[in-house]
Amino acid sequence: MKVVVADRLTKVYPGGKKALDSVDLSIKEGEIFGFLGPNGAGKTTAVKLFNGMLQLTEGSCSVFGIDPADSPEKVHNLSGVVTEHAQMYNNLSGLANLMFFGSVFNISEDETKRRALEIMERLSLLDARDQKLGEYSTGMRQRLSLARALIHQPKILFLDEPTSGLDPESAQNVNNLIKNLARSKGTTVFLCTHQLRYAEEICTQYGLISEGKILASGSLDELHSLVFAGLTLKLKIEGGDINIPGRKFGIEYTGANCNELNVEVNSIDEIPGIVRNFVDSGGKVYHVSAHKHSLEEIYFALIEKRKSQEKENDQ
Ligand SMILES: Nc1ncnc2c1ncn2[C@@H]1O[C@H](COP(=O)(O)OP(=O)(O)O)[C@@H](O)[C@H]1O
Ligand SMILES: [Mg+2]
Repeated sequence: MKVVVADRLTKVYPGGKKALDSVDLSIKEGEIFGFLGPNGAGKTTAVKLFNGMLQLTEGSCSVFGIDPADSPEKVHNLSGVVTEHAQMYNNLSGLANLMFFGSVFNISEDETKRRALEIMERLSLLDARDQKLGEYSTGMRQRLSLARALIHQPKILFLDEPTSGLDPESAQNVNNLIKNLARSKGTTVFLCTHQLRYAEEICTQYGLISEGKILASGSLDELHSLVFAGLTLKLKIEGGDINIPGRKFGIEYTGANCNELNVEVNSIDEIPGIVRNFVDSGGKVYHVSAHKHSLEEIYFALIEKRKSQEKENDQ
């Protein structure tokens, strides 16, 4: 089932800024979708449109088949949203905040408390449950905002830069929680971030956005094949002849007499020949490994590709 759908979704803000330009998206249930792009790309605008917090200009969008502009309350029952500026109450304790939001969704006090304590434990907030939110650190506040978004057990979770202010350990906690939700409960996750390494750890599908337009979307393998034919071979070598005719490579000096070399290959079948050539020319090979390109490399290659396409179109 398609949980989140955008069809030529366009948003022009009053004043004329086109934040989203004919965006198409289609996200299946249970996916962890990474919506990736630099600041100002349009990610937060999309989250607001999907949750009925803004009106679209053109096109359409839906969440579980519901139009968020027509029935925002129906979407809110199914969706949890974590934005950069979640509204919560500074003078209430962490637990009291969650109790309040549970009551908004008509969940019984006992059940809300049970859920709240369980989520707080998973997010390492249990010790701070009776502390006023006003005394929470930024990271604790962000985690409580996630707890708040989960209290009504949403079927889809929109996370807008959820780990941007978190230390590595808290970020890992949040990551694990998100993965777990998707795996054990089939919760769909719509994750906006500009942190590509973080996204690559948890996402199953991606949409790359830049200046309001989708550059590409799909799984990591699908994105990979849009810009790279093969693999990167990493070699640690010493001496020998490092010239491989017709090949691009970069040499990175990593230590005494030892060079690390990256070579682009089309398939693993090329590896034995390359290694044999090194050895035949008198070189020593200490380490060989083959890597697929990282999301970060794919992302920048896609941006480059888009730029050169635009240049061609201009000519
Ligand atoms: N309320 C607003 N009024 C006018 N322009 C806005 C408003 N909110 C965002 N924008 C602009 O829309 C573009 C997309 O913003 P946003 O969706 O916040 O991007 P992101 O979340 O990817 O950083 C930016 O150029 C931003 O300045
Ligand atoms: Mg944003």
